[in-house]
Amino acid sequence: MARMQQPAQERDYVLGTHDAEVERLAFQHDLWRPRVREAWLAAGLGPGQRVLDVGAGPGFASLDLAELVGPLGQVVALERSTRFVQMLHQETRRRGLDHLVVRESDLMLDAMPASGMDAAWCRWVACFVSDPALLVRRVHGALRRGGAFVMHEYVDYATYRCLPGRPRIEAFVQEVMRSWRADGGEPDIARQLPALLERAGFRITSTRPLGLAVRPGEPAWHWPAGFVRTFAPRLVELGRVEPSWAEHLLAELAQAEQDPAAVFVTPLVLEIVAERL
Ligand SMILES: C[S@@+](CC[C@H](N)C(=O)[O-])C[C@H]1O[C@@H](n2cnc3c(N)ncnc32)[C@H](O)[C@@H]1O
Repeated sequence: MARMQQPAQERDYVLGTHDAEVERLAFQHDLWRPRVREAWLAAGLGPGQRVLDVGAGPGFASLDLAELVGPLGQVVALERSTRFVQMLHQETRRRGLDHLVVRESDLMLDAMPASGMDAAWCRWVACFVSDPALLVRRVHGALRRGGAFVMHEYVDYATYRCLPGRPRIEAFVQEVMRSWRADGGEPDIARQLPALLERAGFRITSTRPLGLAVRPGEPAWHWPAGFVRTFAPRLVELGRVEPSWAEHLLAELAQAEQDPAAVFVTPLVLEIVAERL
């Protein structure tokens, strides 16, 4: 019944917008924050700038960007999910951040509600849109000449694996990739991005691979393991796998957690920094 009342973008977005996903995004941002800040600073983001957060989710990075640019700057967070937009609105009001503007916007359908921006940040969004070339062109249109575009997107999702070999986790990773593709996305989208950026009128200024290898007991273990825990029930909800498939998967994950030899290798991210020509 409740599902019937959800707007289509909440229902259909492959990862979902439920509380467990919000918690996962918060933990994920905390974990990646040091690398993200390195990328922002290397790309020249700083006080007084106007920065776009493209596909902001509940806005964990937008809030950090607002702190970085300060009250003389501005952050425009674009997000399609009504729920995420409302959560970020609430948080900006709570923190009194007048310079963080949140816009409910579909990157594939709506015109960019910003122009002349100094920089744009986009993480784990290009892998979910139906037309990444359009996304890149729209960001190009929103930036000033010389503006920076910083992207973190997956380049080789299948590097996500638990050592020593865990067949159910390997099957899970393959199913994740199939589910994103069935939804019109492309998990390994970063393979296409350099060419799309150049074609749209950007010059690539730097690239670097980003990945982690984590062991049970380390706090970061919760990132790759937590995604199995939140997305397995989502795959059941989407009707892609049987509940018993998810139960066996979670049992294998629990076994891995007891194995002192276990190592989780995360899906490889490519950082791309580009300048708008
Ligand atoms: C994995 S989340 C990443 C959120 C945020 N960038 C972060 O790194 O925490 C992907 C986000 O992209 C948003 N998204 C996907 N397709 C979109 C579209 N066509 N227009 C706007 N947002 C979109 C989703 O709603 C979701 O919030």
